Amino acid sequence: MYKLAVFVSGRGSNLKAIHNQIVNGSLNAEISVVVSNSQNAKAIDFAKEQNITFYIISKEKGEEFFVTYEELTDKLVLKNINLIVLAGFLKKIPSELIVKFRHRIINIHPALLPSFGGKGMYGINVHQAVFNSSAKVSGATIHFVDEIYDNGKIIAQQSVDISDVASPEEISERVLKIEHELLPNTIKKFVENKIKITENRIFIDS
Ligand code: GAR
Repeated sequence: MYKLAVFVSGRGSNLKAIHNQIVNGSLNAEISVVVSNSQNAKAIDFAKEQNITFYIISKEKGEEFFVTYEELTDKLVLKNINLIVLAGFLKKIPSELIVKFRHRIINIHPALLPSFGGKGMYGINVHQAVFNSSAKVSGATIHFVDEIYDNGKIIAQQSVDISDVASPEEISERVLKIEHELLPNTIKKFVENKIKITENRIFIDS
C-alpha cells in the first residue's frame, strides 16, 4: 500500500479531501500519519476521529505523540512513508527531512507560483495579495519542497477565473475548490508512478 504522511497546521479541508478520495476508492493509498505543529489544529481532531496516528512537532514531553523533527524523521523512515504531503502546513521543513525525502515531499500553495509565494505567503495573506494586484486569474500549485519557501519545481497547476470577485475571501473559496481536486489527483499520479523528473522539468504521464 502506498503510504502518505499528511502535514497540517489548521482546518484540514485538504486532508479531508484526500481522505474522501481514499474512502470512495479513487485513490489507492493510505494516510499512515498526520503531523502538525499545533495540537489544537482542527485537522488533528479529524485524525483522532478517523483513528489515524498523529504526531505533534514539539519540544514538550509527556505524551507519546510529541516528537522533535529528528524523532519524526526516524518514524517516517521506519514506517516506509512513500510521500509527505504538506496540506496547509505553515512551518518550514528542516533540511535533514528534505534530504531524507528528496522529491518525496510536495506542498500545495493557494496561488499560481512563482507569483504570490515565499515567506509569510500563506492562507488569506496570499489571496489578499492576489486581490490587491487585481490579477484576473488565480489557482493552486503543487510543487516539490526544497530548502527555500515555495521554490521547488512545479508539478501541477490549475487556474480559476477571478475577474469578477469582490473580496479575497471569494478568491479563497474558488481556489480551495480547485485544491480539493488537484491535490488528490496529483497524489494519484505519484501512486501510479506517473511523475517523471528530468533535470529541469517535471512531467506527468497521461
Ligand atoms: C490551503 O488553502 C493551502 O493551500 C494553504 O493553506 C490552506 C489550508 O487549508 N497553504 C498555504 O498557504 C501554504 N503556503 P486546509 O487546512 O483547509 O487544507
